[in-house]
This record gives sequence, structure tokens and C-alpha cells, in this order.
Amino acid sequence: MIDPATVQRINDVADIVEVVGDYVHLIRRGANYMGLCPFHNERTPSFSVNKQRNFCYCFSCKKGGSPVNFIMEKEGLNYHEALLHLAKKYGIEVVERELSDEERAKQSERESMFVANEWAMQHMEKNLTETEEGRDIGLTYLTQRGVTDAAIKAFHLGYALDKGYALTEAAGKAGFNINVFKKLGLVGTSQQGRDYDRFRGRVIFPILNTAGKVIAFGGRDLKGGIAKYINSPESELYKKSNELYGIYQAKSAIVSEKKCFLVEGYMDVIGMWQCGMKNVVASSGTALTDGQIAMIHRFTDDITLIYDGDAAGIKASLRGIDMLVSHNLKVKVLLLPDGDDPDSFARKHTPEEFRKYVEEHETDIIRFKAQVMLDTLKNDPQHRIDAINSVVTSIAHIPDNVARDVYVQECSMILNIPEESIAKSVARARAQIVQKMKQDRLRKQQRQSSETQSQSSQIPNLSQNAQLHAHTSESLQQHESDQETVHGENVIGSYQVSGTINETDFRDRQASNLQLQSPLYPLEKAVIKYCVRYSFMKFCSYEDTTSQEQSATPRIVTLDVLSFVEEELRDSNMKFSVSLFSRMFDLLKGMRNGFETYSQHRTAELEERLSQMRKDGYDKISEKALSVDEIRREEQKLEQNITTERETAIKEICKDYPCRILGSHEDDDIRRLALELMMEKHHLSNIYLKDGTTELEEDRLSVLLVRALDEWKNELINQKIRELLKKFHAASRDGNIEKQTEIQAELNSLMNMRKEMSKYIGERIVFK
Ligand code: GTP
Ligand code: MN
Repeated sequence: MIDPATVQRINDVADIVEVVGDYVHLIRRGANYMGLCPFHNERTPSFSVNKQRNFCYCFSCKKGGSPVNFIMEKEGLNYHEALLHLAKKYGIEVVERELSDEERAKQSERESMFVANEWAMQHMEKNLTETEEGRDIGLTYLTQRGVTDAAIKAFHLGYALDKGYALTEAAGKAGFNINVFKKLGLVGTSQQGRDYDRFRGRVIFPILNTAGKVIAFGGRDLKGGIAKYINSPESELYKKSNELYGIYQAKSAIVSEKKCFLVEGYMDVIGMWQCGMKNVVASSGTALTDGQIAMIHRFTDDITLIYDGDAAGIKASLRGIDMLVSHNLKVKVLLLPDGDDPDSFARKHTPEEFRKYVEEHETDIIRFKAQVMLDTLKNDPQHRIDAINSVVTSIAHIPDNVARDVYVQECSMILNIPEESIAKSVARARAQIVQKMKQDRLRKQQRQSSETQSQSSQIPNLSQNAQLHAHTSESLQQHESDQETVHGENVIGSYQVSGTINETDFRDRQASNLQLQSPLYPLEKAVIKYCVRYSFMKFCSYEDTTSQEQSATPRIVTLDVLSFVEEELRDSNMKFSVSLFSRMFDLLKGMRNGFETYSQHRTAELEERLSQMRKDGYDKISEKALSVDEIRREEQKLEQNITTERETAIKEICKDYPCRILGSHEDDDIRRLALELMMEKHHLSNIYLKDGTTELEEDRLSVLLVRALDEWKNELINQKIRELLKKFHAASRDGNIEKQTEIQAELNSLMNMRKEMSKYIGERIVFK
């Protein structure tokens, strides 16, 4: 276990932009960052990262959260494990005791598989350099093929001893459960029931995921056996079609070079890496899949496929074009001289020569296809038509309109066909593709909604009230997601499935744990939502008339959202009945000191920035030749800008803090609730007004928060009325007139209160 101070330290140090940056190619958008979501396949970015709030969120699949949440989700770890992961990344020392056997057994299966793989990798790395067999056979082979020590280290190359059960034995000695090794395909069982090593006498190429965790191994034969390579089977950790060899070693180079090379084999990756082209990955001899393309697209828009220049290479390069271009990637092809693969080419040339060759020979894939089609099918008219149609289909898969037009033009020249007729064919093909995508999407939605329906019909025996509520909250959610802005650029590129499926897990928990049956639940939730989102933001101020001294200047009291709610609850004698909300509220109140420190720090930064802004502004004004009046006006404008800037920035600071703290809170329920409340369209909290215009939630907060409080109060009154009515009926059954009159009086006053209340709701306004 980790001590609380270290937990806090890890959460403080972990920076969301850096953490997410390990998985996603982020692009700056104003104060935030955007990228392709790492949780689902997409072609246009809907994943946003807010540095100040230390928070990320996918507008499409709704996943995200604080750094620790992100790692939990992405790596399939629990809170504790995710913290360790972050501690390792940031070099924070965590003193942890050894796990007991029982704890080891309790660890998730996935995690124990990772541990086993990591151990096996290190074990085989040692085999390569520290055993005689490893050095004589494995290392000698690699050295002969020109693999450097640096590459061996970077790719964690290893050697599997040719003993039959060397690894099996060592794993047993190290205290591992051998079943895990069987699941990973490192150990097999013979028909006689004997466990043996699946990798024997082979050079080992560990396959790492984007985060650098070992998910599988490839082993190259050195003895001229039948299978040149054997690979780990698919497992809980390894879905072959979703991984790319070398991605971990390549990702930062892909980002900095703004380009990714795709080759076929392990050795090709290593060869190019050694030749200074580190932005290279391999599909391991199979056709590219959507998942792999999406992975590359997270880091770059540009991909160059490298193939051998023989007929087989050309054919291979034409495969999968449509899929590649439909991802909105800029795809190029590079053919190497006949007989060379990237590995051999890299060994024959200097990095400069390789780079030059790339520059001179890489060709846009559509142009390449048109060229190849023209060359190979020149004479036969029917083949020519097929060839043209095939090019047309590829162009039609490009989501971007302008890019399509450019290709139509170019291909009309290459194929010597009027532009118009190609354009027409492309348009027709495009329409078909769009149609098909629409159908697919519809089918997907139908599938999803039937899933949701069967889920809700499974809710067991809730009271009528609860069902009513389950219904209302669902339709509310529905309504909210309707309001969400759709990020779309073009018809196909933005084609994404919207849905709230990922939240069901949380809602299920809510339903069971959190007293959903109470009609108060959604009302209290609305109030706690505003508390979490805006806690320390200035809400209202008033003159303190209760002050004793009748001094000259009345005391002005300023309340932030949290203290306003606190006072309201105290005045009306109300408390959160949902225990999680009440805990959350207490937590928020306890965060005030921390907020003061945080805000001082941030405000100091802000003032520095503003004074720079003022200085720059005045400099600019003085550079212009202006009249005195103009100067005065410009200066006023500048000061106004600074004031607005300050106001917005201060609001942001207030909103950032609870996000940072609650988003990485160690209590799972608190963290989940906080994330849910904050994520819900935090930035696009548009309120739809009757006249059809929209306004930011923040700007209408005074109305919204007060209304939420009133609705809650109103429901409390209703409950009280229902209670009294019951008592009243009981009294009338008993013929207790006196009691009846008493209750009647109380009822009347409550009814009046309710009438007042309903008039109030939505009308009460707090002055800022
Ligand atoms: P070298 O022959 O050592 O240069 O290896 P290479 O990595 O260049 O292999 P090659 O170009 O022949 O094949 C490309 C990729 O296809 C390899 O890296 C493997 O991922 C895969 N592959 C090749 N042969 C086999 C095989 O026999 N079995 C399996 N499962 N995969 C293979
Ligand atoms: Mn090769």
C-alpha cells in the first residue's frame, strides 16, 4: 500500500498532457489540447485534454478523467496499480511491502499476465547475454546480421534456451503460477501432460503496447526449422489485429517526424531504427486492420508504406488502400529496389542516403495506383475499365471533399480520361459509400438501443416511484445528449456513434448503491452538481444588515457557490439524504484551505501574465501614430480587455481546483461521481432558452442553482404533505376530530408554502 502523502504527490505531479501524450498525438487548440480518442476508433478528434483542470474527456465515447483515471481505463488497472504506474513514469519512489501470496492471487488476472510477460522478457534478455548458449547462438546471429547493442537494448531482444523446459522451470522457481504462462502461450503441455517451453532455441522479439508493456513475443528460428517465426497466441493481453510491432519505440519519433513508416517484419523495424529512421512500425506480415490504422492515426496523419519493388510488393501495396484513405490519412508508398527489404536496404545505405531515397521515391498512394493500373493494363479495354473503376472507388473512399477533387483532376490526367466523367463516377461511388455507412450506423444504433432496453427491463422490482425516476433521469440524460454539439467536419470523417453505453456501468452502481428509489435523488444530484462544478466561484454578495455597528460603510459579504448552498441548507434546515452526496459536500467544504493556496499560486501567475499583456499593449499603442484622443480610447480598450481576461481566468481557477482534487480522489465512488458531474459537457453546458437562443450554464448559474434548491425544497414539502395526509386519514378513521383539525391546519400552511414555492421556482433571482 502507498502512504497518503505519496498518493497526493503522485496525483500532484502527474500531468494530464504528458500522461495522455504517451498514447495520443495531441494538438494544441487554444488553452486545451485535442487528439484522437484512445478508447475508441475514430477519424476526427473528439478527445480533449485540459491542462489546468488536469483532465481529459472524449466527447464521443465519454471516457476520460484525471491522469490516474486515464491510466486505470487505458491499462486496465485499479486505482492503486495506476498510481504505481504513474509513480514509475515520474520516478517517484514508492516504498511498498512485498505482496503476500493471498494478495498476489487477488491481483487481477490481466495484471498478473503483464507481470509474467515482463518477467519472461527480462529472463530471456538475460539469456541472450549471460548464458553461453545465448551468446554463442542468439547473440552471434544478431551480431552477424548487424544488429547493434543499442537496438538489442531498445527492443529488449532476447533468447529462448533450447532445453525444452528452461523457462518453465525458471518461472516455477520464481514462484509464478504456471497456468498464467500457459494462458500467455509461453508454456505448452504435451500429450503426456508435461509442461514445456513453446519458444526454444529462438531469438525473441517482445511485442510492446503503446505504453511499453509486454503483450506478446515473436521468436525467430535459427536452425532452419519449418516455422521461421512463432508468435504468442492471442490472449487477454494480445489481440493481434490491434497491435503494431515497434509502436512503443517509434511513437515519439512518429510525433516529432510527423510521419510513420510501415514495414512488414520485425527485422525491418530494427534495421530502419538503426539507420536513424525511428518512426517505423510493422504489421507483422498481415494486412493492416482498422484498429492498427487508428493507432497510427493517433500519432500522425502521414503514413508511408514500404515494400519490396517486386511484383509481390506492388500487389501488397495496393491492398488495403481504400481502408487507409477512408481514415483520412495521407498515404504514400515507397518501393525499394527489387530484391531489397527495408532491413537489407538500411544496412547497405547511410541514413542520409536512405532519407534521400525516401524523398525521391515515395509516391502518393492514389497516384501510384493509377500509374500501376495504367502500366499493367494498358491494352485490354475491359481491364482498363476495371482498373479505372478500381481507382475511382479508392478516391471515393477519401472523406475530404477537396482532396477528392484534387485526385479526380490528377487521375484524369494520368489515365487520360475527361475529368468530368471521373468526377461523376466518383460522386456515384461516394454516394453509395455514404449510404452504406449510414446503414451501418443505423444498425449499430439499433443494436445499442435494444441492449439498453433489455437492460432497463431487467431492473428488478423497484417501487413505482423508482421506475418513474429511472425513467425521468433517463429522458433527462437523453435530452442532455441531444444538446451536445456534434463535432463534424464532413459526412464520413465525423461518422461516429454517439451513445452513453459507457456510463451504464456507473448507473448500475448508482441504482444499487445510491438510493435511486428516493425521489430526492435527482434533485439533490442537481445541487451537488453545481457545487462540484463551481464550488469556489463567486456567486453573490450582499450588504450585511445584521451587523451591530451602524458604521459608515456597511459590510459586504461575498459568498461563493459552496457557501451559498451551505447557508441555504442551514436556513431551511435541509441535509443531503443521499450519503454519497453528503460526503461529497463535506469534502468540498474541507477543500477550502487547499483552494486558497492553489488560487494564490495561480493568481500570481495570472497577474504576471496580465502585466506582460499590459506592457505589450502599451508598447503597441505607442508604436502607432495616434492622436491623443485615439490613444486614450485604445488605452481604455486595453484596460477593459485586461479586466475581462482577469475575470474569466479567475473563474477558471475556481473551477479547476475541485476537478484536480476530486478527479483523482482515492475513493472510487467519489471519483466516479465527480467525474460524471464534471464531464457532462463541462465546456458546452449550453442552456436552451425559450426563445431558442443558448447561454452558458455558468452565466445562468444564479437562476439554475436557486431553482435546483427550490425544487429540492418543494419535494421535501410534498413529502411532508403526503405524510400528513396519511395521518389525517388515519385520524378520520379513528374519528379523532381534534387531531384532524390540528393536521388540517398544518396541511394548510404547507399547501400555502407549496403554492408560494411553485411561484418561486424559476422566478427567484439572486443579485450578483
Ligand atoms: P528475417 O527473415 O529474419 O529478415 O525476418 P523478417 O522480420 O524480415 O521477416 P519477413 O520479412 O520474412 O516476414 C515479415 C513478418 O512476417 C515477420 O516479421 C513475421 O512477423 C511474419 N512472419 C514471417 N514468417 C513467419 C512465419 O513463419 N510464421 C509467422 N507466424 N509469422 C511469420
Ligand atoms: Mn527480412
